[in-house]
Amino acid sequence: MNEQSGSGGTVRLGSGAMFDAIAGRYDLLNRVMSLGLDRGWRRRAVRALDLGANARVLDLATGTADLAIDIARAYPTASVVGLDPSPEMLRIAGEKTARAGIDRISFVTGSAEELAFDDASFDGVTIAFGIRNVPDRARALREMARVTRPGGRVVVLELAEPREGWLGSVARLHVRHVLPRLGSILSGTSEYRYLQRSIAAFPPAEVFGETIAAAGLDVMTIEPLAFGACVLFVAKSRQVSTSVATAIGHGATEPSA
Ligand SMILES: C[S@@+](CC[C@H](N)C(=O)[O-])C[C@H]1O[C@@H](n2cnc3c(N)ncnc32)[C@H](O)[C@@H]1O
Repeated sequence: MNEQSGSGGTVRLGSGAMFDAIAGRYDLLNRVMSLGLDRGWRRRAVRALDLGANARVLDLATGTADLAIDIARAYPTASVVGLDPSPEMLRIAGEKTARAGIDRISFVTGSAEELAFDDASFDGVTIAFGIRNVPDRARALREMARVTRPGGRVVVLELAEPREGWLGSVARLHVRHVLPRLGSILSGTSEYRYLQRSIAAFPPAEVFGETIAAAGLDVMTIEPLAFGACVLFVAKSRQVSTSVATAIGHGATEPSA
């Protein structure tokens, strides 16, 4: 079941419209349901970007901008574009960045599957807890590869079904049973049942790693966090931009960089 009917009509679960409805409670839900671990996971993703000075970063499915803010704080000369289809999540994101006094983050509404940016126009691209919600993930990953400059990093953080073992069982219990109930109680809606279902439906880390590679990225590391309840994928763009490829095809001199 990928849709839910409500007073506002039919909404695709995981879509920007669904997040519009829960935007005001999203940060609280996130903290409580991840037992506060989400902050540390995002910090790992920020370090994995490994940016130089004056870097330009695209944060997809930016939501309320937690990752975008962490990136701007960790890299004081970086500028960040946060993209999300949910105007309500972006409204809260704008308030948070203003409160934090950060003016190096801008926001655009849009989908990860169709990016209105030039080839190789970012030094790094991130997506945290967002790729699960994207209907055509392969297409989104190809877009991420396209807009990242050669050598730039693509960092994906995503929730997963915790692995085997007794600690994994405790984590699995939390994800399968505690998390959806907690979400329903806290948010007063049933959208958070979608969270558990979408985590269960997400491919195993090694399979998703193959999808990343098929999109034209070199997978550097796949790191399970919190007994596999979260996975950090770090990849590098190997793409030569279309314009350079065309120039080489027409006999131009290959750039030495
Ligand atoms: C769980 S939130 C993650 C927010 C944020 N990245 C974080 O770390 O908290 C998922 C976000 O994915 C967005 N989303 C849904 N479909 C999307 C799409 N096709 N492209 C980009 N973002 C999408 C939702 O609007 C929502 O803000």
